[in-house]
Amino acid sequence: MTDTIRVRADDPVGRIAPEIYGHFAEHLGRCIYGGLWVGDDDRVETEDGVRTDTLSLLSDLELPVLRWPGGCFADDYHWEDGVGPREERPRRRSLWWAQGREDEWEESNAFGTEEFLRVCREIGAEPYLAGNVGSGSPGELVDWAEYCNHDGDTEHARMRRENGREEPHDVRWWGVGNENWGCGGRYDPESYALEYRRYANYLRAFERVLGERCLELVACGDNDPDWNRRFMETLGESGAIAEIGGYELLDHLSVHRYYEAGDAVDFDEEEHFRLLARAGEVGRDVDRAAQVIEEFVPPGSVGVIVDEWGVWHPEAVPANGLEQTGTVRDALSAAGVLDDLNARADVVTMANLAQTINVLQCLVRTDETDAWPTPTYQVFDLYRPHMGSEALRTDVETDGREVAVDGDTEEVTLLSASASRNEVGVFVTLSNRALDAREVRIELETDPGTASARGAFDGQAPESHATAEDAEDFAPVERSVDLDGATAAVEVPAASVLAVEFEG
Ligand code: AHR
Repeated sequence: MTDTIRVRADDPVGRIAPEIYGHFAEHLGRCIYGGLWVGDDDRVETEDGVRTDTLSLLSDLELPVLRWPGGCFADDYHWEDGVGPREERPRRRSLWWAQGREDEWEESNAFGTEEFLRVCREIGAEPYLAGNVGSGSPGELVDWAEYCNHDGDTEHARMRRENGREEPHDVRWWGVGNENWGCGGRYDPESYALEYRRYANYLRAFERVLGERCLELVACGDNDPDWNRRFMETLGESGAIAEIGGYELLDHLSVHRYYEAGDAVDFDEEEHFRLLARAGEVGRDVDRAAQVIEEFVPPGSVGVIVDEWGVWHPEAVPANGLEQTGTVRDALSAAGVLDDLNARADVVTMANLAQTINVLQCLVRTDETDAWPTPTYQVFDLYRPHMGSEALRTDVETDGREVAVDGDTEEVTLLSASASRNEVGVFVTLSNRALDAREVRIELETDPGTASARGAFDGQAPESHATAEDAEDFAPVERSVDLDGATAAVEVPAASVLAVEFEG
């Protein structure tokens, strides 16, 4: 059978926020220490302590946004520990994660706000700072915003200048806590809503000092719609100040989703498809969160963010700094999630894969001397043109495969796809999840001038993963596409990802 993707140019969904292609880096294992920051370790080239090999790989990918410093780490992080002369910075406990390769449950604070914001500038990513609600205070969070964004003559603005940065950093994205139903304070939704109101009140009020509405405030939600509903209800009741009512304090509600099926590398065919089925939960989480939000506020006024998502294999445990092997199967799951997020461009305002370097479904792996891209990196590379484009609906005709998921039977489609349009033309991404090649027809509504294609993973098994030596073999290459009027025909190898660009 030939699969068909019909691109519905008459049915735009909305602009794909570039931030949907965002990432997340936590002080956890070798994500920051070892993966990004090596200080004066001279086994690898650095720019003021930051590895240039990692930086260069991340720059190439044009990350739109990077979330930091956690995760659970964020809710016990005190930002003032990580600014100023490095030798004077205090060593602190690290409650949630060992830092670096050793079993070191201490944070050196060698990498702090200025180092992170410098990395963001180098790679062209917007910073997204996650504030400490669990063990912090509203004052500490608004001081951080003042340090980063204030151009005046206050203590924290002066502190920034003393640390070498004259102009404000203009950090736009502020997370008010992380997983506050769990590691971030174990709140129930009502208590968190009151805390959120308290913290967000100071950040929103600080915008008056800055002279404009310029901060994007993100509340922590849950996958459970009831949690989100109770949070929204309580926040709504809290609009005592007419000028800054409850929902005025909220710009985005975030959810997290991790999934697994079998071992990272040693999985059977059923588990191959089950992982892809489970990845579909990210899109459904977005739908559930958006439905709850719509019960309380006008459409479009509060966005949904998935600020942690990805595969979390059983091999990734705190003892190994949540490191796992990143395979082609994982990359296929990322392609499916990105297609699902594109299709929900009207409600999703950001998504952040966990976690950029060495940890969980990372983009980049490192050792003492090398940095190399994972198969998942190649998917983000292929999908880049979607960022900022207008998502178009697609009708996909393909086969399905039934898998058992948590006691139910679910059908996972063998082909995943999404489409968007920009000033260049129409852009279609697709992944063949099947274990044999598929013929795919892509039907547009009008004839494009030309078509070209790039694809990744031809002949690599789903369980294969990249090493420093062979990472290039996973990189996208040109593929042939037959264009006949408004229809293109492509052959998509087994377990592979393809991006087709129609110009004109
Ligand atoms: O990404 C690892 C951890 O997963 C984060 O610290 C936490 O937010 C989530 O539970």
